[in-house]
Amino acid sequence: MSELDKFKRYTVTSALPYANGPLHIGHLAGAYLPADTFVRHLRLKRKDVVYICGSDEHGAAITIKAKKEGTTPQEIIDKYHNQIKKSFGDFGIGFNIYHRTSSPIHHDLSQEFFLNLYEKGEFIEKESEQYYDEEFDQFLADRYIIGTCPNCKNDGAYGDQCEKCGTSLSPTDLINPKSTLSGKEPILRLTKHWYLPLDKYQPWLEDWLLEGKKNKWKSNVYGQCSSWLKSGLQPRSMTRDLDWGIDVPLEEAKGKKLYVWMDAPIGYISATKQWAIDNGKDWKLYWKNQEKEEDNSCLLHFIGKDNIVFHCITFPSILHAHGEYILPQNVPANEFLNLEGDKLSTSRNHAVWLHEYLDEFPGKQDELRFVLTSILPETSDSEFTWKDYQARINNELVAILGNFVNRVMILMHKYYDGILEQSTLNDVDLSNQVGNTYSEMDENLQSFKFRQGLSSVIDLARTGNRYLTEKEPWKTFKTDPENTRVVLENCVQLIGHLGVLMQPFLPNASKKLFQLLNLENDTVYYDEALDLKKGHQLNKPELLFEKVEDEVIERQLEKLKQKTQAAAPEKTPNISEAKENISFEQFAAMDIRTGTILEAEKVAKTKKLLKLKIDTGIDQRTVVSGIAEFFEPESIIGKKVSILVNLEPREIKGIQSQGMILMAENLDGKLSFVSPGDETNNGSTVR
Ligand code: MF3
Ligand code: ZN
Repeated sequence: MSELDKFKRYTVTSALPYANGPLHIGHLAGAYLPADTFVRHLRLKRKDVVYICGSDEHGAAITIKAKKEGTTPQEIIDKYHNQIKKSFGDFGIGFNIYHRTSSPIHHDLSQEFFLNLYEKGEFIEKESEQYYDEEFDQFLADRYIIGTCPNCKNDGAYGDQCEKCGTSLSPTDLINPKSTLSGKEPILRLTKHWYLPLDKYQPWLEDWLLEGKKNKWKSNVYGQCSSWLKSGLQPRSMTRDLDWGIDVPLEEAKGKKLYVWMDAPIGYISATKQWAIDNGKDWKLYWKNQEKEEDNSCLLHFIGKDNIVFHCITFPSILHAHGEYILPQNVPANEFLNLEGDKLSTSRNHAVWLHEYLDEFPGKQDELRFVLTSILPETSDSEFTWKDYQARINNELVAILGNFVNRVMILMHKYYDGILEQSTLNDVDLSNQVGNTYSEMDENLQSFKFRQGLSSVIDLARTGNRYLTEKEPWKTFKTDPENTRVVLENCVQLIGHLGVLMQPFLPNASKKLFQLLNLENDTVYYDEALDLKKGHQLNKPELLFEKVEDEVIERQLEKLKQKTQAAAPEKTPNISEAKENISFEQFAAMDIRTGTILEAEKVAKTKKLLKLKIDTGIDQRTVVSGIAEFFEPESIIGKKVSILVNLEPREIKGIQSQGMILMAENLDGKLSFVSPGDETNNGSTVR
């Protein structure tokens, strides 16, 4: 029995998505599909579980979107909250409640938490200088300041991060900081904030996380946490100078708001409170420490990897400092999903949006659930491609699962009008395989291995197909009618089990399968006996899944290309800053000549390198140049080039490179030769 099985009660959460845009497949694959599958599995085991989610409606994510769309934060959250909620519903993500952090019950509870810690004297109060926009009369949160990245010199870096090179920054690191509100240079002004002393909690966190490791936390999660701990935790401010968010409940903090990462995770609790009110339940059973430890609920946070620090360090510290709350038992974070070789990106519109998918593939939610579950980024980033979508549906859902069901249904009707005579599965091997599949799936799901869990179900369908192929009932029908019936009815029983096992992954297809089998219930608990008894009448065969045609996939690929192009920003040249002056002597020391390319070939086992032979006027020499991505070797033979001939020779991939060809870049980063005119002769000095 797994660690998790011993609990009486489960509190399962999925990260609250920011209500600032629609959902795409990356969201689903990160924090929602695995959690939903897990929760469905628990429910089928008749466990007491509450599954919580809602919209995260505070923070700069919202106000910046409002500014971009020229509207108010309130309008943004109303629009996207409803859209997101609908998408989750459409894909069968079975939250007990999808709540929102703008609700009064959430504001109250967040303030209560803040005051609880404040009254215990947990916060460090500190004044510091922060950027302030004088024209707009307000302090500037990280995302409201842009400037030049000190690391890569990108001028669009934000106060908390440069998205070009990925460096994490603080606002005062930026060169030439500008307010995104007024466009002016901000001033520094003193302001007071309340800091959570993470450094003080560090020893406790270390012990607690070690316990987590013992409880088999995923290594990507545990690894991130220990590297944060290794670099030493710093106090983190729980308040912000903002005008959108939850008021800090202190007289002296007028106009200040709670940090969004303080309030958002509390949203899990306030949502549970609302659900309990609506359903006559006691929310405390799901969140508070009970008198006896064994009565505590099992708290699980499903998230994407960018949220690990907040769920494994900040929020547990808050819960610990408060003292009355349970801590997460596990935080099964997923890595990221990529799309067609590139990161999913809202701003570049490089995404498959859930609402668009449904417009194009109505009723095909389970097909997407199937494909995404098969490729979940459980231990490392993974990739969705439309070709793979097609292949998985055609080769597995259709060819294995659907085909097995269909063959059996057709033969059952052809031979026996779809009426059963047998009430059980009469084959020891098959029975064992069914039993094994149940336990394998349970084990896999309890250790958050959803991909493997799903493949054990598909394997069972594979076994069914193999059994049919071996027994050949279509051949034995005439010669051995008795056995033929046993074989086919065994298959019917097997299909029943497949329907039960499919439920956590494919909630719609399993219902459809139960209908085909003419079963009353649309949910079958694992401990329930299937109603496939003597005399039972099966419904008419119908296809469970349809094949995906090539045109459909080509259309999606084309659409993606067009979307991405339409959203592509106008290109700006990448112009680096002017360098310091040099003396004439320094210039004259460089021996640059005109020359001609005599030979060119690819350097084996490299993508970028060409080996060139150049006539420099002084000699013929070999130069290795990183231009293979841009030119076919044959096409540049005879080309005039400028070459720095007195650059110290270097060995590159075992080849002596004597000099450097001068190149310049265009808007796409493509290189071209800095070519001398045709009338120049080889060996002429460039000056
Ligand atoms: N809104 C955050 C995001 O999308 C997640 C918030 S999770 C919660 O990254 F715990 F804070 F609720
Ligand atoms: Zn940078």
